[in-house]
Amino acid sequence: MKLADYKATLSFSNGSPSVEMPVYHGSIGPDVIDIRKLYAQTDMFTYDPGFLSTASCQSAITYIDGDKGELLYRGYPIEQLATKCDYLDTCYLLLNGELPSESQRTDFHQLVTKHTMVNEQMQFFLRGFRRDAHPMAVLTGLVGALSAFYHDSTDINNPHHREIAAIRLIAKMPTLVAMAYKYGIGQPYMYPRNDLSYAGNFLRMMFGTPCEDYKVNPVLERALDRIFILHADHEQNASTSTVRLCGSSGTNPFAAIAAGVACLWGPSHGGANEACLNMLEEIQASGGVAKVGEFMEKVKDKNSGVKLMGFGHRVYKNYDPRAKLMQETCNEVLAELGLENDPLFALAKKLEKIALEDDYFVQRKLYPNVDFYSGIVQRAIGIPVSLFTGIFALARTVGWIAQLNEMLADPEYKIG
Ligand code: CMC
Repeated sequence: MKLADYKATLSFSNGSPSVEMPVYHGSIGPDVIDIRKLYAQTDMFTYDPGFLSTASCQSAITYIDGDKGELLYRGYPIEQLATKCDYLDTCYLLLNGELPSESQRTDFHQLVTKHTMVNEQMQFFLRGFRRDAHPMAVLTGLVGALSAFYHDSTDINNPHHREIAAIRLIAKMPTLVAMAYKYGIGQPYMYPRNDLSYAGNFLRMMFGTPCEDYKVNPVLERALDRIFILHADHEQNASTSTVRLCGSSGTNPFAAIAAGVACLWGPSHGGANEACLNMLEEIQASGGVAKVGEFMEKVKDKNSGVKLMGFGHRVYKNYDPRAKLMQETCNEVLAELGLENDPLFALAKKLEKIALEDDYFVQRKLYPNVDFYSGIVQRAIGIPVSLFTGIFALARTVGWIAQLNEMLADPEYKIG
């Protein structure tokens, strides 16, 4: 931030003296008024539930321009990363601020790969859960438990510990998500395979069995990798703010990320793609495309309480850039699997077409968001609906840890 050459003045109509506050220019986006001394100067607080007008921190990681429909990771447009890089390149970028050189890339891939196994004892810990437990309940527990298994990287004042904890989390999340899935369906866990890509290894740990070789389908591998890239970070959303707040007490990174997983679980946050798929299935069960008109009337009726899930966004008042990329991936995956005529996809396209032309949606600037198509892709790959939020958590872990480490390195950070 750079100090602006103008100030903000707050005046009161009750005769209290007015106060001047510094203004800063962010490197991108709107200017901010520095209210840190407000309470000391006026004995008054500001009131802003949901942080609608409040920046809680400085961050150079991710930027969203909701009006333009733009998403940047470290200054790079999401479209460029999704088409030219893979997820681990994106992780490197989010953590380090720049894309890796060829040798940095090789080293980073090797480093992550070397940490994909989890302590063998964790499977006995997992055994304590009911088999029908929700995967997010299991994951919250497993991620929190990492601090019990990896004591040697819990000192947040040690930069080396912070780095190793980051790598461990990124590397082990796919293993833990797959273990939670296999446990639920009663199949043996699959150990990671280090000759596979990050997404390919995850596919094998999910869908492979010890009885036969598992061949990774490159189209599905690329699709999953793209889902990971699109969900890797998204500024100061609820779960990221949770991770920062939790970490601000000086707790260890595994505990802070477990708090993020718990926050993400909520239906207003990570649970929306599950809700979108359930909506499509309900319309399909009630008569499919023929019932779309009727459904849209309900959506527009304020008294019905029905929303078009996967549409609208707190920040994007334009097409969510992630939704466009997800639609492209959706086409590729369905074509690869011979599911071009998938009724849910046809339904989604029909809903989107109507909504983009309908005054109700146009006036309110409601456009498809990332969740509109990601559920269809995951379902086609074979991922059960209850695991969608777990996949989101896996992908977002790098964003959380990058934001946490940025906070810890910031000399201005305070306990929240
Ligand atoms: N269907 C029908 N009407 C809608 C929808 C929708 N999906 N979204 C917003 N509206 C209406 C809303 O009723 C309001 O109408 P009016 O002005 O007549 O009262 C107007 O549009 C403005 O909506 P809002 O609720 O004030 O907007 P918000 O910024 O508070 O809410 C939202 C954003 C995402 C919670 C909301 O659009 C929504 O519930 N969408 C469906 C759920 C969904 O898809 N969520 C995924 C978000 S993307 C995930 C991520 O980025 O992490």
